[in-house]
Amino acid sequence: MNTLEINGLRKEYVDHYTGETIPAIGEVTFSIGEGEFVSVLGPSGCGKTTVLNIVAGFIDHTAGDVLVHGRSVHGPGPDRGVVFQSHALFPWKTVLGNVTFGLRMKGVSRAQREVAAADILELVGLSGFERKYPHELSGGMQQRLGLARVLVNEPEVMLMDEPFASIDAQTRRKLQQDLTEIFEKRRPTVFFVTHDIDEAVFLSDRVVLLSHRPSTVAEIIDIELPRPRIWRETVEDPRFREYTHHIEERLGGGEPDAQAG
Ligand SMILES: Nc1ncnc2c1ncn2[C@@H]1O[C@H](COP(=O)(O)OP(=O)(O)OP(=O)(O)O)[C@@H](O)[C@H]1O
Ligand SMILES: [Mg+2]
Repeated sequence: MNTLEINGLRKEYVDHYTGETIPAIGEVTFSIGEGEFVSVLGPSGCGKTTVLNIVAGFIDHTAGDVLVHGRSVHGPGPDRGVVFQSHALFPWKTVLGNVTFGLRMKGVSRAQREVAAADILELVGLSGFERKYPHELSGGMQQRLGLARVLVNEPEVMLMDEPFASIDAQTRRKLQQDLTEIFEKRRPTVFFVTHDIDEAVFLSDRVVLLSHRPSTVAEIIDIELPRPRIWRETVEDPRFREYTHHIEERLGGGEPDAQAG
């Protein structure tokens, strides 16, 4: 059974001023298997965030089904962990407090929480920072803490909507490498949204290309690059450029949302 299944998904928004119907998602169908990293890529405004928000249970859909391990999604739940773009950390809690919060809510014992937290903080490279507060961390570290906070709860699927969009290019590259290493060690199931072609190809097992709004699936591309992936080596692989060129062409050349603000 697939971890996540999106079948015949459609979404129409209603403009509150004009009452006009805005078709955002035309028809989107794809699935994500256990331990798979799947990116959704497409032009700005094509409905990527809308799909993710529907899967997260933040907004409802017009037609179709979203299933997590065969269960229909109705509203948010602990089976889906969302990594927010702006970390959504608790500024008044320490690193440890941020990581163990979800487990505390679930009633996990203090001893178990601390073992789990130590394990995850080691994984994301934040061991030794347990007593620090978020404002004492760099942007990249905050992002890794945001990831740790979701990973520690072992959700069935992790949802990430352009998590590195507001981060400078150099830190972003480092975080893409970190995320790959974390993924390769833990194999969480990941649904990742991005408009960055290199990022999608580097990180993913499969890339789902969406068309312009109202979006449909233009193509699903298997990324058969070997793992572990190391940025410098992976981008030198001729297949990496074949994938990115192919995607650029499918999206009409250049960055998919070069015109967008
Ligand atoms: N709450 C809303 N009410 C009305 N229309 C909306 C709403 N949210 C999004 N839309 C419209 O639905 C379409 C899809 O938006 P969405 O944010 O999902 O796109 P996106 O692919 O994530 O774009 P970007 O790459 O810029 O993040 C857009 O045309 C947008 O204007
Ligand atoms: Mg978006």
